[in-house]
Amino acid sequence: MRVLVLAAALLLGGCGDDKLAERRAAAGANPTLGDYLRVSDAARGRRLFGQCAACHTVRVGGPDLNGPNLHGVVGRGIAQGRGRVGYSAALQAKQGAWTVEALDAWLASPQRFAPGTSMRFGGVRDPLDRADVIAFLRAN
Ligand code: HEC
Repeated sequence: MRVLVLAAALLLGGCGDDKLAERRAAAGANPTLGDYLRVSDAARGRRLFGQCAACHTVRVGGPDLNGPNLHGVVGRGIAQGRGRVGYSAALQAKQGAWTVEALDAWLASPQRFAPGTSMRFGGVRDPLDRADVIAFLRAN
């Protein structure tokens, strides 16, 4: 039964819109963040952003919810969202900008990236999922 489910999942993965299996293969062995971004899919990232949408908007001028509006966040200074009051001291203490590398580390584990952050979110475990979300953010 387990085998059947797995086979079905692989088939679906192979034929679905997301082409997950192909993309994982195309990323190569021991893929780096760059490899994942090369095969990333912003449209799937938009769907994955559903898990962020309770706390974040991305459209231009969208409101801050529990978390800040994320329009244009890629490349912007960390904790520099316009109009946002109430970044945690932990995030404000971070230097630099939201490079793709910083975003990848943040989304893997907000608490590890900025211990004490107020972003109550466990993280996105799969590196390809993170690359898809970053591709979506980059497109916004
Ligand atoms: C439960 C609410 C919540 C969820 C879910 C959540 N966030 Fe956040 N996010 C926050 C809060 C609150 C902050 C501000 C953190 C701080 O100040 O320490 C934040 C900050 C951020 C920042 C930094 C913004 C800046 O201006 O520096 C990014 C990027 C971000 N979140 C992306 C995401 C993404 C992508 C997801 C989904 C994969 C997500 N967040 C899920 C609440 C959330």
